[in-house]
Amino acid sequence: MSYTIKSFDEYQQAYQESVQNPENFWANIAEQFTWQQKWDKVLDWNFEEPSVKWFINGKLNITENCLDRHLKTRGNKLALIWEPNDPKERYVRYTYRELHEKVCMLANVLRNNGVKKGDRVCIYMPMIPELAFSVLACARVGAVHSVIFAGFSATSMADRINDAQATVVLTSDGLNRGAKQIPVKRVVDEAIASCPSVQKVIVVERTGWAVNMVEGRDVWLHEELKKVDKDCTAEIMDAEDPLFILYTSGSTGKPKGVVHTCGGYMVYSDYTFRNVFQYQESDVYWCTADIGWITGHTYLLYGPLLSGATTLMFEGIPTFPDAGRFWQVIDKHGVNIFYTAPTAIRSLMAAGLDHVLSYSLDSLKVLGSVGEPINEEAWHWYHIHVGKERCPVVDTWWQTETGGIMISALANVSPLKPSHAGYPLPGIQPILVDQNGAEITENEVEGYLCVKFPWPGMIRTTYGDHERCRLSYFATYKGLYFTGDGAKRDKNGMYRIIGRVDDVINVSGHRFGTAEIENAINQNKHVVESAVVGYPHDIKGQGIYAFVICTHDEPTNEQYLKDEIIESVVAEIGKIAKPDKIQIVSGLPKTRSGKIMRRILRKVAEGETANLGDTSTLLDPNVVDEIIAGAL
Ligand code: WT7
Repeated sequence: MSYTIKSFDEYQQAYQESVQNPENFWANIAEQFTWQQKWDKVLDWNFEEPSVKWFINGKLNITENCLDRHLKTRGNKLALIWEPNDPKERYVRYTYRELHEKVCMLANVLRNNGVKKGDRVCIYMPMIPELAFSVLACARVGAVHSVIFAGFSATSMADRINDAQATVVLTSDGLNRGAKQIPVKRVVDEAIASCPSVQKVIVVERTGWAVNMVEGRDVWLHEELKKVDKDCTAEIMDAEDPLFILYTSGSTGKPKGVVHTCGGYMVYSDYTFRNVFQYQESDVYWCTADIGWITGHTYLLYGPLLSGATTLMFEGIPTFPDAGRFWQVIDKHGVNIFYTAPTAIRSLMAAGLDHVLSYSLDSLKVLGSVGEPINEEAWHWYHIHVGKERCPVVDTWWQTETGGIMISALANVSPLKPSHAGYPLPGIQPILVDQNGAEITENEVEGYLCVKFPWPGMIRTTYGDHERCRLSYFATYKGLYFTGDGAKRDKNGMYRIIGRVDDVINVSGHRFGTAEIENAINQNKHVVESAVVGYPHDIKGQGIYAFVICTHDEPTNEQYLKDEIIESVVAEIGKIAKPDKIQIVSGLPKTRSGKIMRRILRKVAEGETANLGDTSTLLDPNVVDEIIAGAL
């Protein structure tokens, strides 16, 4: 068996082998890496606790595999290309040797500032090279990184820092994203005012804006770098030591800290990267995701660097200075493989063809999509106008919890079908179940998407609360990992992901729990109660629709109330979770037992009020008429 699959026959063979003898299959792949000590046993697992361990007693450091391992053969090869927000600013490129040095130096700064193996380090930074260095530097010294997307509010950051009990925060003075300016350090200051665990803040100078530096707590990275060596021995980690925590929303409560471990995540991110994108040695690869999300972790940083690839990192947004920016960057750097989200494609589609047609895009070979279902119209537009019908579009389905791609075509290897993710990767055993958890074996049916066997990149626990991990993913259907998604299998066994079946909304590829947004809205003093649902949105995939009951005292001006509600959401979560529509109502449709009938609210939000189904169990059916009459 070869490591990279080259034909559909080979895929089928690899798949068979991975199911018949999973341990052997993954051990062969894991052999390719640098281990300080080989594992004693490949896998130990049960989905009841759950307890999943891969490459038991194996010792390694993932950065030795991302960097040191390549120095002999790829030392002068480009590892990282950084494209700034402003196209007039010069881009920066780092070879593997240079990246190695940057990471080692930053790792030494962390050690000098008291960071030890196992400590949690929070990273809240714009998409600048130091963000990549910081992540890898944490991994180098064995600290558990917790990257927080720099669009989250101070409150969100504080919750995450407190949950992880992070001791150090890495950040920047400010950031420019598109035409917007964000005072990053000020947000950090506000957050850590309520984070007693934080002892040090290391600040990167990016914008040169004046910031407040707290004596004894805050240090400038450029000052600290003057004090350190260019070499840094990598901490030896157990395969099952945590590598990072990444917070993601679920259907209940606060976001949970998904924990990934060193060995399995390494093997899985590399294997999936090579195979899905069919990366070749001289390719330039670009994933547009922010490192603050799992896609940025696995397919901007770890996967590509493990594979010795040249990976591009972009500070800006698709529409700045205009809607041709992506295409301009592709031509400028000769990008061969391009991986982005349906929401970006749809927004660029809406901006008109001229922007795309002004660029050659000749370098492109493979296109990828991730984060939400890609509708057929967007798929075809991407395929025809970006890929000029010569590039396969791989629609990659996976989750923060899965660590890497689970169901996807392999570029130029597997058949493609618009809006279908396709077949599972080798090693992945998805099944569809009905509401009782019984497996549905026939095709052309819909069911709840589960996975019945472990894979190396899977979630190990939710930080600080293992029971939550069990309840969220392993308790719904006995013996199975439940994804929270509904899916359909076509007559050939190809999967089509329909979307979340729980109370999670996917807005522009970002996950929010309805309860999480409701909690934020309810923080506002004018609000009595609220209910949030998703509805189809042309660009974002899903939009956020909030039904809100307000107090009767004080101002009744609707616009004022709506602005206030938005303020609360921005303060609690961040701008990315702003409701698209807010309807002020006098009551919510509740059953006699007090449960909100979300089904009805979803129909109203979708504009499908003709058939609301059975409403006889409602406490007060009149509420529904009022809601329909006021629908936005
Ligand atoms: C949820 C996971 C890991 C990728 C970034 C999002 C949805 C993801 C697809 C796809 C249809 C998709 C699912 C999944 N999703 N990729 N190709 N087709 N739906 O990660 O924030 O953990 O969200 O995104 O609903 O459960 P995430």
